[in-house]
Parts: sequence; structure tokens; C-alpha cells
Amino acid sequence: MSRFTTQTVLVTGGTGGQGASHVRAFHAEGANVVIGDIDAERGAALAGELGDKALFVRLDVADEKSWAAAVAATEEAFGALTVLVNNAGVQNPPALIESTDRATWARILDINLTGTFLGIKTAAPALRRAGGGAIVNIASTMGTGGTAFYAPYVASKWAVRGLTQTAALELGRDNIRVNTIHPGVVATAFITEPAAGADAPIADFYDPEPFAVPRLGQPADITATLLFLASPHAAFITGAEHIVDGGLLLGPALKNEAA
Ligand SMILES: NC(=O)c1ccc[n+]([C@@H]2O[C@H](COP(=O)([O-])OP(=O)(O)OC[C@H]3O[C@@H](n4cnc5c(N)ncnc54)[C@H](O)[C@@H]3O)[C@@H](O)[C@H]2O)c1
Repeated sequence: MSRFTTQTVLVTGGTGGQGASHVRAFHAEGANVVIGDIDAERGAALAGELGDKALFVRLDVADEKSWAAAVAATEEAFGALTVLVNNAGVQNPPALIESTDRATWARILDINLTGTFLGIKTAAPALRRAGGGAIVNIASTMGTGGTAFYAPYVASKWAVRGLTQTAALELGRDNIRVNTIHPGVVATAFITEPAAGADAPIADFYDPEPFAVPRLGQPADITATLLFLASPHAAFITGAEHIVDGGLLLGPALKNEAA
């Protein structure tokens, strides 16, 4: 399939576990891809591997000037921006609210929430110039309830949902659709390596066995939903939330004799 031959897609956190999967898939379906990330080494390597239709831009999503430069570089290289994927995100080291310092709170909110806000704010005029497009914000199943020890992350992802719905209302008549994906637990460094300042990774205590699809999510699981949402097949979908978690939010699955 080549659903994106006329599209230019900017993926933040585009060198990470999920981001790189998204970048590769859009590129394989014909898109120009812009890899936005703070990791310049991985970004340059991925862009080099993909070739002409790929560009790495050093983008710190929490920095407004960095956003302006990234969108300008995208339009200069490829003429237009038509899809924005706000994927960059970080986890807080596990701590009770009363033990969470303000700097940690601010850092997580800055990247996960303000980074998404700045992305929508900076990209919207470019998407409008292109005649419309799609924005997909990566939230989390942890943005649908409470999770002890993860208040900054949970709060940031809940807020991304409200931001998404508001952006969908504000940008709908400009032919710009805005949706969220809520991944469950996905096998990337995000869960296999400890968050900055944490002792242990989430993978050390998360067990998918009780759930309806008893395995970890893979980046490709999220990529498949993302490409659908960014494509014309999703033309009537905006302001909507897409849970991709193998049944995690449903709770433990029924165990039958055969299983
Ligand atoms: N892996 C999971 O279990 C899981 C579950 C739910 C949601 N998510 C969300 O999925 C998204 C992708 O996470 P992942 O699993 O690929 O993790 P990852 O750690 O592999 O990738 C995160 C990427 O974000 C980049 N990044 C960090 N700070 C940045 C900044 N200030 N500006 C630009 N880029 C920055 C990192 O360099 C990295 O490439 C995140 O928003 C995360 O919150 C992950």
C-alpha cells in the first residue's frame, strides 16, 4: 500500500521505539518523513538509512523556538506539512505525590503536555497552508484512570485528551482532524529501561498474562492504528480516542479450560 505518497509527516520522538516504527511505516507507504527528536545521533542514522525522503530535525518539543525551526525546515525541504504525530513522551520516576518534587512535575508536563500544545500551535498554520491534514497525539491508557506513583505522567496524558478534543473543535473547519491513541504497555525502552532517576523499569513488575491479549504491545500495533487515523480512511473521525492495549483496561480476561 502507498497511502501517503503526497504527504509529509513529522513524528516527534521519531527515533524512539514507537516513533521509529511510525517513521519507517509512513516512509514505506510513500510519505516524506521528518524525524523530530533530541537524540541527534539516532536521528541522523535513521534519516541516513531511509534516504532522500527523510529529514532529521533536532526538536525539543518543550521549546517553542525549536518547534518553529522544525516546521520551517519541513516546509523548506518538502513544500508542506500534512501530518503531525505528537509522540515524544517521558515517564516520571515512580514516587508518591507528596514525594514528587516540583522540578520533576514540571519536566514531565513540559514534554508530554506543553510539547503537544506547542506542536499543535506551531503546526496548525502549516497544515492550513497545505489545505488540511491530520494530527495524532499519543496519550496512554494511564491517561484514563489513576496509577499510584505516576501522578505527573498520568496528569499529562489525561490533559492531552482534553487538548485533543479542543483542537479538533478549533481546527475541524480547516479540514484538520485531531485524534488520540492510548497505547497500553508497549515493548520499548520506555518500559524496558528505568525512567530517569528510577531504580527499576516498568517491565520488571508488569505482567500481561491476565489480559485478553496476553502479551506486551509492539510498536507495530500502535503504528497500524496511527496510519489508519492519518489516512483518508479516517476522514470522518476526529476528536476521538483509540485504545490499543490488548484489553488491559478491561481487566482480567475469563480463563477457560482450553487456555
Ligand atoms: N511504551 C509504552 O508502554 C507506552 C505506553 C503508553 C504510552 N506511551 C507513549 O508513547 C510515546 C512513545 O514512547 P516510546 O514507547 O516509543 O518510548 P521511547 O522512550 O522509546 O521513545 C521516546 C522518544 O521521545 C524522545 N524525546 C524525549 N524527550 C524529548 C523532547 N523533549 N523532545 C523531543 N523528543 C523527545 C526520546 O529521545 C525518544 O526517542 C510516548 O508519548 C509515551 O508516553 C508509551
